[in-house]
Amino acid sequence: MIYLLGGSGYVGHAYQAFLKRKGLPFRSLRRSEVDYTSPSALRAALERDRPEFLVNAAGYTGKPNVDACELHKAECLLGNAVLPGIVAQACEEAGVPWGHVSSGCIYSGGGPRPTGFKETDAPNFTFRTDNCSFYSGSKGLGEEVLSGKPGVFIWRLRIPFESVDNPRNYLTKLMRYSTLLEATNSISELDEFVEATIGCWTRRVPFGTYNVTNPGKVTTREVVELIRRSGVCNKEFSFFASEAEFMGTAAKTPRSNCVMDSSKLAGVGLSLTPVHDAVERDLKAWKKAA
Ligand SMILES: NC(=O)c1ccc[n+]([C@@H]2O[C@H](COP(=O)([O-])OP(=O)(O)OC[C@H]3O[C@@H](n4cnc5c(N)ncnc54)[C@H](OP(=O)(O)O)[C@@H]3O)[C@@H](O)[C@H]2O)c1
Repeated sequence: MIYLLGGSGYVGHAYQAFLKRKGLPFRSLRRSEVDYTSPSALRAALERDRPEFLVNAAGYTGKPNVDACELHKAECLLGNAVLPGIVAQACEEAGVPWGHVSSGCIYSGGGPRPTGFKETDAPNFTFRTDNCSFYSGSKGLGEEVLSGKPGVFIWRLRIPFESVDNPRNYLTKLMRYSTLLEATNSISELDEFVEATIGCWTRRVPFGTYNVTNPGKVTTREVVELIRRSGVCNKEFSFFASEAEFMGTAAKTPRSNCVMDSSKLAGVGLSLTPVHDAVERDLKAWKKAA
């Protein structure tokens, strides 16, 4: 049986759907029933149920967006920096291997090579580099807390998208925002992310950090062009003239835009679909929210 923390969230729902589809037994824990932010409560639950693996899809992302993390700093630190350490300790004591949903938002820019940042590159959008949003800083701290811990996967998710209309889906966001920021990013197809991360466990690949993004990079304008060509949305998309205009009008804190190299994941046999193909496929299969 697999334990799922944060199963009530956007990413957690995708885990629940995947595990159900595959017939993999799991238990989704909510803080309201088992306060898994308490080390003793989590350890007691692990020792009672003895799951073979745990997925931590819990964290604080800020609503309606990461700007909220600038206001709710304690909640953000608790969810993203402290909780991973609590889970690590409880899992280590109970002997349960686990995986942590981290984020690529601890990087900024194209990276030191054409394929982007590798897992071995030091994050450059964190409190250490003093240039980041509070959210990115907290996610960077979460990875630092886990550094060198045994029996844990750190999976970096980056701008999730999928074929189902949802305010959290990157494709929906692009269709709904009145003005867009042109940027180049690596992004993660949510269902493929979930499948690859569970694959890390079922195929017993080496523990450690993995960039779980669709191979390649994509610009906002390229995604908009794919949206228009798909016929899912035909509106006239408009763009900010510059990042400075975006920061001056639509955002309160800097956003990470970055390119990530996913070759380590491919090297363990867990390749995602090339990014342009994955976006095109999801738009072709587009489903309105129920
Ligand atoms: N969505 C994205 O764009 C994105 C991108 C990259 C990485 N991530 C990471 O993926 C993880 C899940 O994100 P999500 O988008 O699914 O978030 P979400 O929809 O807000 O759900 C997160 C869940 O975490 C649990 N939780 C535990 N401690 C929390 C806290 N202090 N504050 C708020 N919620 C807390 C809550 O479940 P219960 O209270 O029911 O237990 C909540 O439903 C996070 O670690 C996030 O940083 C997300």
